[in-house]
Amino acid sequence: MRGYFVYYLKILWAFCVINETIASAIKITKDDAYKKLLSLRSLAFEDCVGSSSLYNVNYLNIENCSRVPCSMARDSTVKVTVLFDDNGNGVSFLKHEVRWVFTYLKSEAAISPDPCDGDHNCILNVNESKSYWANIYVNSTLPVMKGSMLWEAKDENNKNLICFEVPVVITM
Ligand SMILES: *[C@@H]1O[C@H](CO)[C@@H](O)[C@H](O)[C@H]1NC(C)=O
Ligand SMILES: *[C@@H]1O[C@H](CO)[C@@H](O)[C@H](O)[C@H]1NC(C)=O
Ligand SMILES: *[C@@H]1O[C@H](CO)[C@@H](O)[C@H](O)[C@H]1NC(C)=O
Repeated sequence: MRGYFVYYLKILWAFCVINETIASAIKITKDDAYKKLLSLRSLAFEDCVGSSSLYNVNYLNIENCSRVPCSMARDSTVKVTVLFDDNGNGVSFLKHEVRWVFTYLKSEAAISPDPCDGDHNCILNVNESKSYWANIYVNSTLPVMKGSMLWEAKDENNKNLICFEVPVVITM
């Protein structure tokens, strides 16, 4: 009798383990599929070379830009939206450090809101990952030429959370 019971428990246990494995496999596949979809819809960008940033960027959107290099008119304000994984850390603060990078010139960009904290609704939960938005000001003194926008976001302790670079072209 006892032998049967142990046998039964073993089967039950095996059944649960298999079920859990299948469930997590399905979840991983779903997450992967979602990330794949996001990356297809995203503008092309580069993770910063040698970046030690903690979080992966899954998706980048820049207002009025459907392909890179993004045209940006001088003296305009452009909204940037980023979806990223915070690995369950509940990130609630981002200090932006954004630079325009041209062959012979680097220049600090003006971002708002900055820092992005609880006051501006600039960090949102989206489907188990996070998103932030910010406005970047295209300074009227920028050269009219191709370059890139290098975006870093840090936490309160100046630790790198996010880093990506996207080609832009400044227009009159
Ligand atoms: C985006 O496009 C809309 C419609 O064409 C325009 O009104 C708006 O000024 C553009 N925004 C920027 C930042 O260029
Ligand atoms: C969230 O996920 C659902 C289904 O998985 C999808 O239809 C929806 O577009 C996603 N939302 C965003 C903002 O990507
Ligand atoms: C625009 O650039 C000029 C010169 O580089 C600088 O003095 C000015 O502060 C910048 N304006 C903003 C809003 O960043």
